Amino acid sequence: MSTDLVYAICSMSDIPSQRAASFQLAKVGPDGRDVPLNLIVVRWGRQVFGYENRCPHHGSNLDWERNHFFDPNGTRLMCGKHGALFELHTGNCVDGPCKGESLTPVALAVLEDEICIVGVELAEDADEDDGLFDPPGACADQL
Ligand code: FES
Repeated sequence: MSTDLVYAICSMSDIPSQRAASFQLAKVGPDGRDVPLNLIVVRWGRQVFGYENRCPHHGSNLDWERNHFFDPNGTRLMCGKHGALFELHTGNCVDGPCKGESLTPVALAVLEDEICIVGVELAEDADEDDGLFDPPGACADQL
Protein backbone atom coordinates (compact mmCIF):
# COMPACT_ATOMS: atom_id res chain seq x y z
CA MET A 1 0.00 0.00 0.00
CA SER A 2 1.38 3.39 -0.94
CA THR A 3 0.82 6.12 1.63
CA ASP A 4 1.57 8.64 -1.15
CA LEU A 5 -2.02 8.14 -2.30
CA VAL A 6 -4.30 10.08 0.01
CA TYR A 7 -7.68 11.41 -1.03
CA ALA A 8 -10.22 13.33 1.05
CA ILE A 9 -13.58 11.57 1.30
CA CYS A 10 -15.50 13.87 3.62
CA SER A 11 -15.19 16.00 6.72
CA MET A 12 -15.36 14.43 10.21
CA SER A 13 -18.44 16.56 10.86
CA ASP A 14 -20.25 14.92 7.92
CA ILE A 15 -20.55 11.66 9.91
CA PRO A 16 -21.81 11.91 13.50
CA SER A 17 -19.99 9.81 16.09
CA GLN A 18 -21.29 6.22 16.37
CA ARG A 19 -22.65 6.36 12.84
CA ALA A 20 -21.51 5.17 9.44
CA ALA A 21 -21.89 6.39 5.90
CA SER A 22 -21.36 4.86 2.49
CA PHE A 23 -19.58 6.35 -0.49
CA GLN A 24 -19.79 5.19 -4.09
CA LEU A 25 -16.27 5.68 -5.41
CA ALA A 26 -14.19 4.24 -8.23
CA LYS A 27 -10.58 3.14 -8.01
CA VAL A 28 -8.03 2.43 -10.69
CA GLY A 29 -7.71 -1.33 -11.13
CA PRO A 30 -4.51 -3.24 -11.92
CA ASP A 31 -5.26 -3.01 -15.65
CA GLY A 32 -5.87 0.74 -15.47
CA ARG A 33 -9.63 0.46 -15.74
CA ASP A 34 -12.03 1.98 -13.23
CA VAL A 35 -13.33 -0.44 -10.61
CA PRO A 36 -16.29 0.45 -8.36
CA LEU A 37 -15.40 0.94 -4.71
CA ASN A 38 -18.40 0.95 -2.40
CA LEU A 39 -16.93 2.20 0.86
CA ILE A 40 -18.30 2.20 4.41
CA VAL A 41 -16.83 4.78 6.75
CA VAL A 42 -17.53 4.16 10.45
CA ARG A 43 -16.92 6.99 12.88
CA TRP A 44 -16.54 6.33 16.62
CA GLY A 45 -15.46 9.51 18.38
CA ARG A 46 -12.15 10.52 16.77
CA GLN A 47 -11.61 7.02 15.35
CA VAL A 48 -12.63 6.04 11.83
CA PHE A 49 -12.75 2.59 10.23
CA GLY A 50 -13.14 1.84 6.53
CA TYR A 51 -14.44 -1.30 4.85
CA GLU A 52 -15.68 -2.29 1.44
CA ASN A 53 -19.46 -2.43 1.59
CA ARG A 54 -19.64 -6.08 0.60
CA CYS A 55 -20.76 -8.85 2.94
CA PRO A 56 -18.44 -11.89 2.84
CA HIS A 57 -21.51 -14.15 2.90
CA HIS A 58 -23.18 -13.40 -0.46
CA GLY A 59 -21.46 -10.18 -1.46
CA SER A 60 -24.45 -7.95 -0.75
CA ASN A 61 -24.24 -4.39 0.47
CA LEU A 62 -24.57 -4.40 4.25
CA ASP A 63 -27.11 -1.56 4.38
CA TRP A 64 -30.67 -2.50 3.64
CA GLU A 65 -31.55 1.19 3.87
CA ARG A 66 -29.01 3.80 2.80
CA ASN A 67 -26.49 4.42 5.58
CA HIS A 68 -28.17 2.01 8.04
CA PHE A 69 -25.29 -0.21 9.07
CA PHE A 70 -25.59 -0.85 12.80
CA ASP A 71 -27.23 -3.61 14.78
CA PRO A 72 -30.07 -2.64 17.17
CA ASN A 73 -27.53 -2.12 19.98
CA GLY A 74 -25.54 0.28 17.83
CA THR A 75 -22.27 -1.48 18.61
CA ARG A 76 -21.63 -3.67 15.57
CA LEU A 77 -22.09 -3.50 11.83
CA MET A 78 -24.93 -5.69 10.64
CA CYS A 79 -25.67 -7.08 7.20
CA GLY A 80 -29.31 -6.38 6.49
CA LYS A 81 -29.72 -9.45 4.30
CA HIS A 82 -29.14 -12.35 6.72
CA GLY A 83 -28.06 -10.56 9.88
CA ALA A 84 -24.30 -11.19 10.03
CA LEU A 85 -22.65 -9.07 12.75
CA PHE A 86 -19.21 -7.50 12.39
CA GLU A 87 -16.91 -5.85 14.92
CA LEU A 88 -16.54 -2.15 14.21
CA HIS A 89 -12.77 -1.98 14.72
CA THR A 90 -11.74 -5.19 12.92
CA GLY A 91 -14.54 -5.99 10.47
CA ASN A 92 -14.50 -9.57 11.74
CA CYS A 93 -17.82 -11.41 11.56
CA VAL A 94 -18.65 -12.55 15.09
CA ASP A 95 -22.12 -14.00 14.43
CA GLY A 96 -24.18 -15.06 11.45
CA PRO A 97 -23.70 -17.18 8.34
CA CYS A 98 -20.18 -15.90 7.61
CA LYS A 99 -18.87 -16.12 11.20
CA GLY A 100 -15.07 -16.19 11.14
CA GLU A 101 -14.79 -14.26 7.88
CA SER A 102 -14.32 -10.52 7.70
CA LEU A 103 -15.07 -7.39 5.76
CA THR A 104 -12.33 -6.10 3.47
CA PRO A 105 -10.58 -3.22 5.25
CA VAL A 106 -9.84 0.08 3.53
CA ALA A 107 -7.17 2.24 5.16
CA LEU A 108 -8.36 5.66 6.34
CA ALA A 109 -6.64 8.57 8.04
CA VAL A 110 -7.93 11.78 9.59
CA LEU A 111 -5.96 14.80 8.44
CA GLU A 112 -7.01 18.25 9.61
CA ASP A 113 -10.57 16.99 10.24
CA GLU A 114 -10.85 15.44 6.79
CA ILE A 115 -11.43 11.70 6.52
CA CYS A 116 -9.08 10.46 3.83
CA ILE A 117 -8.64 7.15 2.05
CA VAL A 118 -5.02 6.02 2.00
CA GLY A 119 -3.16 3.77 -0.43
CA VAL A 120 -5.89 3.47 -3.05
CA GLU A 121 -5.71 5.29 -6.38
CA LEU A 122 -9.15 6.71 -6.97
CA ALA A 123 -10.40 7.24 -10.50
CA GLU A 124 -10.95 10.84 -11.46
CA ASP A 125 -14.56 10.26 -12.39
CA ALA A 126 -15.54 8.97 -8.94
CA ASP A 127 -19.17 9.64 -8.05
CA GLU A 128 -19.44 13.20 -6.84
CA ASP A 129 -23.22 13.18 -6.41
CA ASP A 130 -23.04 13.60 -2.66
CA GLY A 131 -20.78 16.64 -3.03
CA LEU A 132 -18.36 15.26 -0.47
CA PHE A 133 -15.64 13.91 -2.72
CA ASP A 134 -12.70 16.22 -3.27
CA PRO A 135 -10.54 16.00 -6.35
CA PRO A 136 -7.77 13.36 -6.12
CA GLY A 137 -4.73 14.64 -4.30
CA ALA A 138 -6.62 16.91 -1.95
CA CYS A 139 -4.78 15.45 1.08
CA ALA A 140 -1.56 14.58 -0.70
CA ASP A 141 0.47 17.33 0.91
CA GLN A 142 -0.68 16.52 4.43
CA LEU A 143 1.11 13.24 5.14
S1 FES B 1 -25.37 -11.53 2.54
FE1 FES B 1 -24.77 -10.69 4.47
S2 FES B 1 -25.38 -12.19 5.92
FE2 FES B 1 -25.96 -13.03 4.00
